[in-house]
Amino acid sequence: MKGRRILVTGGAGFIGSHLVEALLARGAAVHVIDNLSMGRRENVPPGARFYEGDILDDRLVEQALEGVDGVCHLAARVAIRDSVARFLEDAQTNLMGTLHLLHHCRKRPPKKFVFASSMAVYGDCPHPRPVSETSPREPISPYGLSKLAAEKYVALIGRQYGLPSVRLRYFNVFGPRQAFTPYVGVITIFIQALRQGRPPIIFGDGDQQRDFIYVGDIVRATLLALESDISGEAFNVGTGRGTSVREVAAMLSQRLRPGLEPRFEPPQPGEIRHSIADISKIRRMLGFQPEGGLAERIDEVIAWNRTEATG
Ligand SMILES: NC(=O)c1ccc[n+]([C@@H]2O[C@H](COP(=O)([O-])OP(=O)(O)OC[C@H]3O[C@@H](n4cnc5c(N)ncnc54)[C@H](O)[C@@H]3O)[C@@H](O)[C@H]2O)c1
Repeated sequence: MKGRRILVTGGAGFIGSHLVEALLARGAAVHVIDNLSMGRRENVPPGARFYEGDILDDRLVEQALEGVDGVCHLAARVAIRDSVARFLEDAQTNLMGTLHLLHHCRKRPPKKFVFASSMAVYGDCPHPRPVSETSPREPISPYGLSKLAAEKYVALIGRQYGLPSVRLRYFNVFGPRQAFTPYVGVITIFIQALRQGRPPIIFGDGDQQRDFIYVGDIVRATLLALESDISGEAFNVGTGRGTSVREVAAMLSQRLRPGLEPRFEPPQPGEIRHSIADISKIRRMLGFQPEGGLAERIDEVIAWNRTEATG
């Protein structure tokens, strides 16, 4: 990475800020563009050049792209459930924002454009079986739909304008710095509730499974995609293992409020029943192997949430 200049959109956010740190540690020069709608200024390491503003702002995007030879596009409205009510705002950022970026990239295409997509591009999955990249892509949320449309533009514009691209379908990411919102990050949401003595709320029966992947693993997968010569491909980024939401609640209750039982509420529209990644493709083509599972990392995340609350 030494000598390379990389733009990270959404670099003040949860995953983006970890990615920026890793890029700087590898000797890259890093530009960050973020409108701080969710991200925090203090998440951006001092070594990065920060452009505060929107990916829909033409002038700012032009400036942030100056001299850049790689783009990791992570800026997005990240809220599956909320996108049902706010599909317009979702598409404005997640689809139109991506198109704006592509529009500016095609003038002087960087060597690689990595797009942060999501497991939400897949259709509903009634069985807890891993989905591969070729599984049906029939999103059941506006968020999944805008990510899928953006993916298709990235691949098409990439081919037509000589912009090598990779699409990464992140599964359920967890780790320090995940901001609390009622819509995303079930682990952070449960930790917040338990710390305040409230029962975690489970939507549905709790047997729905998710593939929880540690943010450090997501960063490694993103760097592998950025550095590889592979283009035009989509990859799942998960662990290949499913954990039920009920198990997550039990794991956290046991550590934070033993005996406090979860509360069950009706399932929410837009949410997939099961979501587990088949990661054979990314293993084979990018040599990716996840290192940290939920059980090994959960205490670190609880500890971070504790310092956040007191710090
Ligand atoms: N967290 C997950 O579990 C998960 C799962 C699948 C995919 N993803 C994808 O990974 C990426 C990063 O997600 P995250 O969890 O770090 O979320 P995040 O909300 O912490 O980060 C997104 C960042 O984008 C910024 N942003 C939003 N709209 C913007 C705009 N119009 N212009 C400039 N900046 C804008 C926000 O301020 C925020 O800092 C997103 O593209 C998301 O869709 C995340």
